[in-house]
Amino acid sequence: MWCPTLNGKSGPKYLSIAEAIGESLADGSLSEGCRLPAQRDLAYELGISLNTVSRAYAEAVRRGFVHGEVGRGTYVRAAGPLPAHTQRAGMQRPADGPVDFTLNLPAAGDGAAALAHTLGTLRSASALESFLDYQTGGGIARHAAAGARWIGQLGLDADEGNIVLTNGAQHGLLASIMAATRPGDVVLTESMTYAPVKAIAAHLGRKLFPVAMDEEGLSPEALELACTGSSARTLYCLPTLHTPTTATMSEGRRRDIAAIARRHDLTIIEDDVFGFLPPERPPPIAHFAPERTLFVTSVSKCLAPGLRVGYVLAPERLSGSLRAMVNLSCWMPPPLMAEIASRWIEDGTARRLNEFQRSEAQHRQSMARRILGARCRNNEPCGFHEWLLLPPYWRADAFRRAAEERGVKLLTAETFAVEGSTPPNAIRLCLSHETTRERVVHGLEIIARLFDEETDMADLVV
Ligand SMILES: Cc1ncc(COP(=O)(O)O)c(C=O)c1O
Repeated sequence: MWCPTLNGKSGPKYLSIAEAIGESLADGSLSEGCRLPAQRDLAYELGISLNTVSRAYAEAVRRGFVHGEVGRGTYVRAAGPLPAHTQRAGMQRPADGPVDFTLNLPAAGDGAAALAHTLGTLRSASALESFLDYQTGGGIARHAAAGARWIGQLGLDADEGNIVLTNGAQHGLLASIMAATRPGDVVLTESMTYAPVKAIAAHLGRKLFPVAMDEEGLSPEALELACTGSSARTLYCLPTLHTPTTATMSEGRRRDIAAIARRHDLTIIEDDVFGFLPPERPPPIAHFAPERTLFVTSVSKCLAPGLRVGYVLAPERLSGSLRAMVNLSCWMPPPLMAEIASRWIEDGTARRLNEFQRSEAQHRQSMARRILGARCRNNEPCGFHEWLLLPPYWRADAFRRAAEERGVKLLTAETFAVEGSTPPNAIRLCLSHETTRERVVHGLEIIARLFDEETDMADLVV
């Protein structure tokens, strides 16, 4: 019979029992469909009143851990999905209207149930006061340690002393660019890049310099040339699941980039925000050039973007100025959010939620392959987005407008092109953030028809 351990728990007994139920769910000792002991049996086992157990079970129902069936007992609920009103509240994921393939957000899963559980356990945490204080001296060590453990999975030897917490990767990039460069500096980057970095550079007075790409992303030959032909001492790049092209660098390519950076004394800002999606991938560039790489990531794509928890692994010589830039831009990320992420990393919830993102991405990728066939060039089965080269009879902007008229929103290569480069005739489709697979299929079928319609027209013209 399941029986909670109440040692070390303070506060009312019924809350401790409800909390223990949540903990058993997290560690797997209670799983979906399990029946909790009859209230009378548990009261006898724990030596407490029947009324206390009844209150505990009612509290566990309120927290969404279990459901009671009159006369049949109390059972552990399925992990997801929660009732519609608690799901996705506040996330801009309309359930009707145009299908939106523009946003590279993770799929909506059962993170809300995990959050409900964690918020419940937080009520009795001993360090609550510290979450209400400024933490500018480097933050709570446990949070950096959890970050080090999480990114350690990627093959990085992450010392928690060099982990700087940020409000997500976007903030990590902003703080890293501020720490590594000065106004007027040139920053090398792939010829197409994460669009907000173009805006960050423009606002900070840094100049982006486009470096040509091939199927693996940043080209080493082009990087070598750019280093000799410019004054740049910083490189921003996206080696895993590059946006928009989906390119992922091989290990050899990462070693080459690290070697070039060393030869030309470049500081690398490595954006690994999609790095937790592929179950297997080469180690980050930071592994090959740790002394010069600011490795930027977050929990946004693998767990939940609303947590706004990011980690930057910084080399010794840059960690002081990076911390100063975090202080300057926001004093510090809220410790409460880092606490939630840390608990999820420590208790295995993070691994489970990340797994869900992987399998949902994989499913949606296979739907795209089925509907769009060989037009899908993404070799990484767990990415959120697709990159489609258009046939010559379609100009990307005309395709975007035609898709929008038929109820599908997408982005063209133009959005990502760095000034000075020529965008290819291509579009990006993000499949992950739409609410249902049915809507994704509907949107993909519209895109496939658009390709075919114009193929017929082209035949006529010829
Ligand atoms: C390539 C890339 N880098 C960074 C970010 C920012 O992520 P976060 O939500 O953690 O700020 C995103 C978000 O879409 C992204 O696509």
